[in-house]
Amino acid sequence: MPAAKAFYVTTPVYYVNDAPHIGHAYTTVAGDVLTRWHRQRRERVWYLTGTDEHGTKVERSAHEHGVSPEQWCDRLVNEEWLPVLKTIDAANDDFIRTTSGRHRRGVAAFWNRLKDNGYVYEDTYEGPYCVGCEEFKVAADLITDDAGVPLCPIHDKPVEMLSERNWWFRLSAFAEPLLEHYRRHTHAVEPRSAYNEVVSFIEGGLTDISMSRSSVEWGIPLPWDDEQVVYVWFDALLNYITAIGFSAPAGTPEADRFAHTWPADVQLVGKDILRFHAVYWPAMLMAADLPLPGKVFAHGWLLVGGEKMSKTKLTGIAPSQIIDVFGADAFRYYFLRAINFGSDGSFSWEDMLARYTSELANGLGNLASRATAMVVRYCDGVLPEPGHYANADRSLQDALIEAAAKADSAMLAMDFAGGIAAIRAFVEAVNLYLTEQEPWKLAKAPAQRERLHTVLYTMSESLRAIAVLYNAVMPTAMSSLWGQIGALPHLGELADQDVSEVERWGQLPPGAVMTKGAALFPRIEEQ
Ligand code: MSP
Repeated sequence: MPAAKAFYVTTPVYYVNDAPHIGHAYTTVAGDVLTRWHRQRRERVWYLTGTDEHGTKVERSAHEHGVSPEQWCDRLVNEEWLPVLKTIDAANDDFIRTTSGRHRRGVAAFWNRLKDNGYVYEDTYEGPYCVGCEEFKVAADLITDDAGVPLCPIHDKPVEMLSERNWWFRLSAFAEPLLEHYRRHTHAVEPRSAYNEVVSFIEGGLTDISMSRSSVEWGIPLPWDDEQVVYVWFDALLNYITAIGFSAPAGTPEADRFAHTWPADVQLVGKDILRFHAVYWPAMLMAADLPLPGKVFAHGWLLVGGEKMSKTKLTGIAPSQIIDVFGADAFRYYFLRAINFGSDGSFSWEDMLARYTSELANGLGNLASRATAMVVRYCDGVLPEPGHYANADRSLQDALIEAAAKADSAMLAMDFAGGIAAIRAFVEAVNLYLTEQEPWKLAKAPAQRERLHTVLYTMSESLRAIAVLYNAVMPTAMSSLWGQIGALPHLGELADQDVSEVERWGQLPPGAVMTKGAALFPRIEEQ
């Protein structure tokens, strides 16, 4: 049987002009939760992230720091961008640097193909350019300051006027084919507002666009004109195919990976870079006769004082600032739970602390520690055999079936807040069950021994399901819970548990040895 296509998810490649802030971590965490969920459905998955290292913006930050762009990129990638993946607990399958050999070779092969296909020609570019966006602008994109100076509205900085002889990509040829594609694939861009924005932009007409820069040195030379480098976006976008083996010789493992991975199923981007991903990128793919991605999802911004968090505006918060206090699990949980994916959201320490305390420390964490403590105290830590199931027990089993179904459809639709809400509702149902069943009272009555065992079993089996359901969001805490309920020796690794079978009752075997371990979410002293 031929190997199945991998479910392929990408994040943007991040500019290495500075260290990552929580806005960057947000995209990577979302992709990580999505791919962990799909892996737990036993799908073949490939999750790619990486860094965008060429262009004026990166070159200037290197020079401002008195080092070469190569040194600057190596330093930032090794000291900041790779470590942050560990900090946030991302389990990406690959990491692509746009300065790597595989990428540079793929970019050259791609543009040669487009030139051969007749989509590249030479002309002069005259107009505004924003280095912050690394984007050729038109007057309608810009705002002006009080003195009438044209500014980029995203960076609040003056644009630069360029006049250069460049090579151009015949984007205008793809307006109709793109509209046709989006008419047929109405979920190819999400959320709906982003889809509408893309379609109306294309309907407004597409003009050809420069694909090279003659006044920039830090980039990939054009294969047919080494006086010029590929325009940074038309270099960076190609990472999605160069990383998985585009242009690798037939018969190599790389070529095989490409055949089983492209097209991407989900490309996650911030809404600021939607046009590049939902207009230019699919046009480039069409020009190269390659299939288009299944979906581009544009998420919202993390805001500070109502504006996009950014290093340039000195509003960036490093992920470690939050994770040092709350841990990676709570970080991942908070951003996906508190902000609807697709909408903007603000971060506040007060809100984070409040939700952490009520939902994680007092909610799930407290439930886990009470439950394990009861099995330790009343049954010497050995999970008892359940007796006859009463209505209350069966209702909890039904609540699990409902939570699992809701969580699965929400996670697949990238409604992370909805997925978390469904699991949280089940946690609350288990808490309520304990309050009503009062196992501490049953433990005092010898005649109630069988009932006590049924309640303890129901509670522990519920924790087994919670660990499986929450693993994609909070892998470290859930793996600790998995250990505490004694599941590992019987059921294997938590990450290998099939989430589409989580509701099948009775998986945690009686006899499992439970221990009361460290608090999953320790209380945080207010500072
Ligand atoms: N290098 C380009 C992307 C090239 S992809 C072929 C780029 N890099 S970036 O580092 O500036 O931003 C990358 C992504 O980081 C954004 O699309 C978005 O996913 C994320 N974010 C950066 N700041 C953000 C916020 N304040 N809030 C949420 N996400 C943000 O653009």
